[in-house]
Amino acid sequence: MTQFIGTSDIRTLLRHTGLEPFLIGLAGYIEADFRRWESFEKAARLASHSRDGVIELMPASDGELYAMKFVNGHPGNTAGGKLTVTAFGVLADVSTGYPVLVSEMTILTALRTAATSAVAARALARPDSRVLALIGAGAQSEFQALAFKALLGVEEVRVVDLDTEAMDKFCLNLATSGLRIIRAGSVAEAVDGADIVTTCTADKTRARVLTPDHVVPGMHVNAIGGDCPGKTELHPDIVAGASVFTEYTPQTRVEGEIQQMPADFAVIELWQVLTGKAAGRRSAGEVTLFDSVGFAIEDFSTLRYARDLSRAEIRDIDLIPELDDPKDLFGLLAAQSPKWAMIAASTAAGSTRQSQSPRPLATPSGSPNT
Ligand SMILES: NC(=O)c1ccc[n+]([C@@H]2O[C@H](COP(=O)([O-])OP(=O)(O)OC[C@H]3O[C@@H](n4cnc5c(N)ncnc54)[C@H](O)[C@@H]3O)[C@@H](O)[C@H]2O)c1
Repeated sequence: MTQFIGTSDIRTLLRHTGLEPFLIGLAGYIEADFRRWESFEKAARLASHSRDGVIELMPASDGELYAMKFVNGHPGNTAGGKLTVTAFGVLADVSTGYPVLVSEMTILTALRTAATSAVAARALARPDSRVLALIGAGAQSEFQALAFKALLGVEEVRVVDLDTEAMDKFCLNLATSGLRIIRAGSVAEAVDGADIVTTCTADKTRARVLTPDHVVPGMHVNAIGGDCPGKTELHPDIVAGASVFTEYTPQTRVEGEIQQMPADFAVIELWQVLTGKAAGRRSAGEVTLFDSVGFAIEDFSTLRYARDLSRAEIRDIDLIPELDDPKDLFGLLAAQSPKWAMIAASTAAGSTRQSQSPRPLATPSGSPNT
């Protein structure tokens, strides 16, 4: 049977584990998989762009397990009461090709994006970073704040959004988180004195959410909202002046902030820093930029983590037929449904008659042959 993790299962799981311990554990899985980066089969995601957004397929495999996530990004959705980003994923056994897990990934994507941001910041931000500025208070924002608290010891979050109701929601959701939450009146106010800046806005345009006057020496910028061709958040001079770190560079060159830079603009991949193959931050005054677009290995790690955590309580779904005779797929239908039992019986009778006097058999509409 294929295992299934739905939205309600994730909510139950998170109630058991607690959000911050979950994020710490997830960050461990992501970091472990980034450390064995070279053993993965990797590809840039397959994106289908439309006027209003994008639908993407994100595959990754380590040769034993294969993961695939379906995810969308529709910045206009919230105006109609829908999420900007939704997702679900599949984990399959490479040796048989069988899906072993199907999971919701809308909540898991928010968690994995936050955990990845924190893994990157732990490697790139100044170790004494305690103040986070968050530009954008949408669906991802609370997860970002909690991951930075849990993994970096961030104590204060300054939040700003064009939508004051989104800021109200953010402040209410994190009122008992232990973080000092400050509502900022502008981006300039939010970033003033911040050690780390996360940009997580949604707009299908070349936005300039952060401009060079917002960035000071020693800052770490975690840019997650620029993740599609023509959808960026940073002024290009910020990118040009920073040390830039990426997930999977061929994908980031098309989708990330560096789409604004020449094709040979120098970047370092995060896995190289995590494995010690490349330096991360080299001085306290350096400006580091994690140009995050979200990569399939993060979803691979997340599905693996969710399955390992919830193994005991996980539900089964009958996604793949279970057969006594794997060549008798048709027989499964006959055994389960009186209708198909009759069809199978009449087909069997027909083939007996056919052998006596050849004539074509009528195929009922909706036949399993189609
Ligand atoms: N890098 C990744 O791995 C990754 C993963 C998930 C989502 N994302 C991206 O992160 C972004 C945020 O996602 P979400 O689910 O929170 O979206 P959301 O629509 O729920 O929230 C976005 C928020 O940004 C605000 N906003 C838009 N323009 C702004 C501006 N100029 N200044 C201040 N606030 C502004 C909106 O009012 C909204 O509250 C999206 O662009 C999404 O595509 C990236």
